[in-house]
Amino acid sequence: MKPTKPTSAIFLGVVSCLSSLVNANPTPTLKDAPSRTLETRDAPGASLQADYYWIRSVVAPFFHFYMQSVPSYATGHPIMGPNTSAGQFQVQDGQLVQLVDTDGTLLYMNVEQPADDTAKKLAVSFETEQNTFGTFSWSGDALWWSVPSIERPNNGAWLICEDDLLYINLGPYAWDTPAGCGDATIHYYNAAQADP
Ligand SMILES: *[C@@H]1O[C@H](CO)[C@@H](O)[C@H](O)[C@H]1NC(C)=O
Repeated sequence: MKPTKPTSAIFLGVVSCLSSLVNANPTPTLKDAPSRTLETRDAPGASLQADYYWIRSVVAPFFHFYMQSVPSYATGHPIMGPNTSAGQFQVQDGQLVQLVDTDGTLLYMNVEQPADDTAKKLAVSFETEQNTFGTFSWSGDALWWSVPSIERPNNGAWLICEDDLLYINLGPYAWDTPAGCGDATIHYYNAAQADP
């Protein structure tokens, strides 16, 4: 294999820098469903299990994007994506849980601690351990997260950022939105199938 010329690396760097400037607020599109590389024996699949919900965003440009792991049912940073690979969720004792096996195996949404008090958003990820930072709840059908150490202007404000990754928005809803992100509120939905 020919060694990569350093000039092409610089060129690519400039191009990706320019395109990230141009794409500061990219128009989101529903990507293909992530492959269902199951880590589980018996995944809950496309039929909603008793006591669980789909969770979806409802306002353009994220109309009916569904919360899910990538790959499906795996640990890691969730996305908002297509109905065909939507995960199933519930709030239990302040934890947002994802059902990953019909035997009742759960993953827990963990919330990143802010690096400092200028943080505008917090990453979330599904883990096998329970979350120890803050509390999830429903307000009507909207998913909220709150923690005593942070005064949020809107406990139901979320961000969907590059690659459709989901974040908690520590700022106001739809104001001073971080580059590369769009504002969303996310809501439970309990139809048997997740409609697009
Ligand atoms: C996605 O939506 C389509 C169209 O309404 C529906 O037929 C399908 O069952 C849905 N898929 C899931 C997994 O809910």
